[in-house]
Amino acid sequence: MDNRPIGFFDSGVGGLTCISEMFQALPDERIIYFGDTARTPYGSKAADTIRTFSLEIADFLVKEGVKMIVIACNTVSSICLKDLQERYPDIPVLGIISPAAEKIGTSCKKENPIGVIGTKVTIRSQAYENQIAALNPDLSVFSEACPALVPLIEEGIIENEIMDLTIRYYLDAFLSENKIRTLVLGCTHYPLVEPNIRKLYPELEIVNPSKEIVRSIARELEERDLKAQTPAGENTFYASDLSENFVNMINRIAELSRTQVTFRNFNLEQGK
Ligand code: DGL
Repeated sequence: MDNRPIGFFDSGVGGLTCISEMFQALPDERIIYFGDTARTPYGSKAADTIRTFSLEIADFLVKEGVKMIVIACNTVSSICLKDLQERYPDIPVLGIISPAAEKIGTSCKKENPIGVIGTKVTIRSQAYENQIAALNPDLSVFSEACPALVPLIEEGIIENEIMDLTIRYYLDAFLSENKIRTLVLGCTHYPLVEPNIRKLYPELEIVNPSKEIVRSIARELEERDLKAQTPAGENTFYASDLSENFVNMINRIAELSRTQVTFRNFNLEQGK
């Protein structure tokens, strides 16, 4: 049993899609979230830059006394999961790609082509393809980078024709040419536009890694005897630039799950 919080981080609001799943599935766990809103998006940056930013945030979370680190970001998971695991050998560090790859690799059929969408960095890394192939080499996996989605989502442009057009720009030809039936939302921002994707392509089966990672967290807490013993206290949400959109989104999630939250602005470079 362990009442310390679980640390989550992402480049911005995307990782919040894991938090809403967390509040529902594991309501006793306390959370510290860091959104690097000042430096988002990560998905088109150089690998070294992403690694440096990620280590800064993870160091911060460790100083805050977390019992586990969850990388609520596909881009970071695809680049530096191993670096973070090696840096903190005493704390479990979970990436978001493996749980979703496991679901696909063990449940999809070879006649069902799979599509993965994500940032440029995630797609270039081929992390999904490699991990799925390791579990089931017969599956066909196609991938497509959708770099304009994250900036629109960070701006809160979601229930809007601009978002629908942007989704169609990336997906119309990709889905039809490759006969995709199952689509993996390989960026934690994308579940925020899942209703748009469902409306545009109602026949698609959608895999949301933010749901899959919560199952892994639960399993890890159980296996390592790290589950919280008492109901969660206040959850803290840090941002490197506390934007209105960030605060509004968290307030909405907190209201739905009747959870207490506080907000803090934290500049990693200045350390305050
Ligand atoms: N939400 C992140 C991901 O899952 C990063 C998006 C970005 O900053 O480009 O990849």
